[in-house]
Amino acid sequence: MASRVIPVDPFDLVIFGGTGDLARRKILPALFRRYCAGQMQPGTRLIGAARAELTDASYRDFVAAALDEFDIVHNHTDEQRSAFLADLHYVRLDATGEDGWERLAGLMSRDRIKAYYFSVGPSLFGPLAERLHRHGMADAGARIVVEKPFGRDLETARDLNRTLAQHFDESQIYRIDHYLGKETVQNLMAIRFGNMLFEPLWNSQYVDHIQITVAETVGVGGRGDYYDRAGAMRDMVQNHLMQLLCLIAMEPPAKFDPAAVRDEKLKVIRALDPVSPAEIVRGQYLADADKPGYHEHVENPASTTESFVALRAQISNWRWAGTPFYLRTGKRLRARTSEIAVVFKEAPHSIFGAEAGRHRNILTIRLQPNEGINLDVTIKEPGPGGMRLIDVPLDMTFTEALGPDAEDVPDAYERLIMDVIRGNQTLFMRGDEVEAAWAWTDPIIAAWDADEAEPVPYDSGSAGPEEALALMHRDGRRWREIRV
Ligand code: BG6
Repeated sequence: MASRVIPVDPFDLVIFGGTGDLARRKILPALFRRYCAGQMQPGTRLIGAARAELTDASYRDFVAAALDEFDIVHNHTDEQRSAFLADLHYVRLDATGEDGWERLAGLMSRDRIKAYYFSVGPSLFGPLAERLHRHGMADAGARIVVEKPFGRDLETARDLNRTLAQHFDESQIYRIDHYLGKETVQNLMAIRFGNMLFEPLWNSQYVDHIQITVAETVGVGGRGDYYDRAGAMRDMVQNHLMQLLCLIAMEPPAKFDPAAVRDEKLKVIRALDPVSPAEIVRGQYLADADKPGYHEHVENPASTTESFVALRAQISNWRWAGTPFYLRTGKRLRARTSEIAVVFKEAPHSIFGAEAGRHRNILTIRLQPNEGINLDVTIKEPGPGGMRLIDVPLDMTFTEALGPDAEDVPDAYERLIMDVIRGNQTLFMRGDEVEAAWAWTDPIIAAWDADEAEPVPYDSGSAGPEEALALMHRDGRRWREIRV
């Protein structure tokens, strides 16, 4: 099996915030890898735009340094590197003023796809969109890519949607949630809707509960300023975990196309019950022997922002009534691991008697690392001595099953940027989806603010606060271990 690269026609891409952290770490290395893979044609023009006083030449040096730092494992030739850098341009530009806009407009081609990547804070989305429009760069071939956070609550998200809608049609707006570009996240849909095996059991009659865990080992060091104003609820739950929940819970769309997929996701979000304070735990990591704690990281000893959230969500529809979804995410946890576990109910009646024990199937989809799926299956414990049952894993790691091709898949940003150019919005969030996610999140945050609730501390390197364990224990369930 060889991976397929479908070249895209030459295009123009402007990265606003072209000297920023995201551009350095993700966007530019992603473009370089697609370039080396042969997906981008000669003549494609990449333009960094920012306030810094740079020239084309010094921007190329800047990008070369970023590739050295963030593209370490990628094999490429010196010729590829030089050719990629030669296609780069830089425009010094004032996002809220007039400087640089005429020059940028002069660089843009007429008859090709033009993508504008807003890798800047949301307060600049409006000014950028307005200027693109005013300088004639918002024609039908134009697309804008906007990064999260898309607002900080329903009201600000609505404002942003309204502002962008003044200059661009919804079909031109690509709201990025990079989790949707991850290979295994897309695999959720393939596993669910490409197999006959799972879908008939995918409902509250057979599923006891679902656990979604996104655990990180990193702290917030370096991003403290942003993070302390966001917290795990806004930074991870409202977007990444919400998207995972949608893909795991939605009805089968009639087609794998943007409207059908996003309609089904929206229905899930709208069917979510409000979460009461008793169903949610927020935590904040403590310092350990060698690393600072949350307060030191954000340089705010009084901060009550959460770096961990665990909650119990309920979807009120026919498929899921009675099946809770437990979500948790946090920084400075024991291991970096993201997985979804679908825990099935026990067989309704055991023909083997009490000594056979209680067993159930668990389907685990590992999103990262060791991407793969595991199904716990109950079998007879080998040997004499009666009918005793044990659970064994049917485990498949994609790299082992699929060989080197599975290692060579594009990362989330590579795939998403190419989807922008191809005009495929399936893996991007629609405006109404983002608003619905905020509508569910807002009351949770408002309740914390009203109570002046303080997060509970947890040890760095742990599985989060004890209270999060209790959240499941009192339902007679337990979290899966956080480990690689
Ligand atoms: C980002 C969050 O969107 O996702 C970060 O802002 C988080 O706080 C990151 O660390 C996690 O992404 P990944 O791809 O490393 O799981």
